[in-house]
Amino acid sequence: MTLELSPIDKAKFVAARRAADFVEDGMRVGLGTGSTAAWLVRCLGEMVRDQGLRIKGVPTSTRTAELARQVGINVITLEEARWLDVTIDGADEFDDELNLIKGGGGALLHEKIVATASDQMVVIADAAKEVEHLGAFPLPCEVIPFGWRTTQALIEETLVAMDVMGRSSVLRMNGDKPYITDEGNYIIDLKLNRIGDARQLAMVLNQMPGVVENGLFIDICDAVVIGHPDGTVEVRDINEGTVTQDRIDIADSDNLFSDLDE
Ligand code: 5RP
Repeated sequence: MTLELSPIDKAKFVAARRAADFVEDGMRVGLGTGSTAAWLVRCLGEMVRDQGLRIKGVPTSTRTAELARQVGINVITLEEARWLDVTIDGADEFDDELNLIKGGGGALLHEKIVATASDQMVVIADAAKEVEHLGAFPLPCEVIPFGWRTTQALIEETLVAMDVMGRSSVLRMNGDKPYITDEGNYIIDLKLNRIGDARQLAMVLNQMPGVVENGLFIDICDAVVIGHPDGTVEVRDINEGTVTQDRIDIADSDNLFSDLDE
């Protein structure tokens, strides 16, 4: 059975397919989390199986680890890898300086550690993720469960002095229970609407007791691969701007869409 992809999934898929070109034989690769990163993991799995690509993958979540093993990628821990050649991950928003909001999928802490431990971080995204100013997407903040209401109040109070357009926040839920991260923490989503100074906000948030990490990725991303539903992809490099524009034939990848259950 072949699944008909939605336009957004086509865009995510072609971004992932193009980003797989950054991966070379023998590399240690950080594997992101989310629906776009899942396409990347499937593409790499196909390269492992069909082309004999030898890579070691460091997943950024238990979900990604499970998928990576399923598709035949050799999964190792960051402790084993120590340092990575490249990390490829999705994002919730990116701006023209390739600063990001991440954590919509709840994996921001491992994602930031893994991306920072990589020679290169490549983001894969559909065009809707590009923004002039970060902040329309609620900024995820991973906090220790102990005293989380106090931490939340402290964050909201601190936001008064920050260059943001909103300062309400909500505890992320999973049904009627708090969402729990892979590290056993909670996530508070900050509704900021527009972040004026993302660098300052990232630093201030991380200085608060109880805050483990925030979803602002500043000066971490090196390139963004932007996919479109018609198969076109653009690679935007932090130093060189747009470096390539290609078109990927989605029909060539029919086998990757077979029997997908999501
Ligand atoms: C997970 C993330 C994801 O990369 C981000 O939420 C984008 O997800 P998707 O590719 O499903 O749109 O940061 O923590």
